Formats: sequence, structure tokens, C-alpha cells
Amino acid sequence: MEKRALLYSGKAKDVYATDDPSQCIVHFRDSATAFNAQKKGEIADKGRLNNLISSHFFHLLDQRGVATHFVRTLAPCEMLVKRLDIIKVEVVVRNITAGSLAKRLAVAEGMPVNPPVLEYYFKDDALGDPLVNDSHILAFGWASAAELSIMAAGALRINDILVPALRKLDILLVDFKLEFGRVAGRVILGDEISPDTCRFWDANTLAHLDKDRFRRDLGGVAEAYQEIYRRLKGGTPNV
Ligand code: TMP
Repeated sequence: MEKRALLYSGKAKDVYATDDPSQCIVHFRDSATAFNAQKKGEIADKGRLNNLISSHFFHLLDQRGVATHFVRTLAPCEMLVKRLDIIKVEVVVRNITAGSLAKRLAVAEGMPVNPPVLEYYFKDDALGDPLVNDSHILAFGWASAAELSIMAAGALRINDILVPALRKLDILLVDFKLEFGRVAGRVILGDEISPDTCRFWDANTLAHLDKDRFRRDLGGVAEAYQEIYRRLKGGTPNV
């Protein structure tokens, strides 16, 4: 597999072409942003941990029959993926109130919500990723009705797989964000599943083991990412 031109550089990942036009290399960086990149920083070893944590989750989903872009882990910070046409809708699933939901509805963080809340955000940095609904998505043509139903059902199925898997590790999956993309007439899961894109709380102490430690200046940021890796892999992060 030969790494070719840089195709895209995002806030935390770079995407490279390869000698196979149907595949890309995703390079996970240590850089972190929050509040639409108004806050910037570095989290030690985050690139490697997010790559390995995402690889772990994609592998688990693959085993459970969920189609993802993951092909294989290539290097500590690099993953080989299928090249997707990313749909400009972020899908958020929430099991416990937190973050923007708690703020928007003026509810306390930490209240379980059942059934889970499903939300869509229009993926547009200039607009700050606004909350939208299915009607907006269809009216503006960001996704078709068939694509939207695949994303909604897929996100809830992924939630049903991840919640119990994480609960066994004493981790509460509070909420998470997914991105989907088109390839060969299908819609499959793309992007990453990591402490950057999920809220993970320790089931006993409710300690935040995710990017909220960076967003909210809670300290122990790198340690939280290491702890998630340690629980998933049952060891210290030295792959
Ligand atoms: P929110 O409560 O800030 O809307 O975040 C909901 C979930 O989505 C949370 O797990 C963090 C994740 N998320 C991202 O992955 N990227 C983002 O830009 C934002 C705002 C949230």
C-alpha cells in the first residue's frame, strides 16, 4: 500500500490517497479543537490512541455485521479505509443528557433518556454544525430518504452494540457522533469512534473519560484517553 497525496486535512485527522483509488489512509493527529476550533491544543499520544480505539470499535462493529469504512490498522497513527463520499450530516445518539442537549433544553447532565435521542447536525464549520431535522435533510438534498433511514437505523444499531460492550468495562456511553458516506451505491459508517467523538463516563465515579476533559479544562486529558484504551485492550497502550 503506497501513500500518495494529501487529500484533506481536518481538525484532528489527515486523509491521504493511496495507489488504490478506492482506498485512503487516515492519519490521526494529536491536535485537538473544541467550540468550532476556537479552542486549540495538543493531547499527548491522542493520534495513536484514537486510531487504535477506533480500529477496535470498527472491528467489533464489523464482527456484528455493521458495514464500516475500516479496512485495517496500518501503523500506530494510521488506518486504511474505503474511500467514501461523506454525507454532510452528523448523526448523534444520546443515552444520557449532557453537552449541548442539556444546555439547549436546560436540563441537568446525567439523566438517562430512553429511548435514546437521535439528532442530526449539518456538517458545516462556517455555520458551527447547526442542529437540523429530517425535513431539512430531505429538503436541501443532503441525503435521500433511503440514506437517512439507513443512517438512523445504523446509528441506533451501533448504539445497541456499543452500550452493553462498554458497560461490561464499567463505561457508560453517554452520547456519540457518527458520520456516514456513500460507496458503490451503499451507505456505510465512516470517520472515527473515539474519546474525541463520544462521551464516556466511568460507571462508578461518573468521571469523564473523553474530550470533555479538554473542552472543560478538567485536567487529566491524556490519561482519560489512555484509560479508555486500557479498558478496551486490557493493558497499557504500547502497540
Ligand atoms: P454535543 O453535546 O456537544 O452536541 O456533543 C454530542 C456528541 O457529539 C458528543 O459525544 C461529542 C460529539 N461531538 C463531535 O464528535 N464533534 C463535534 O464537533 C461536537 C460538537 C460533538
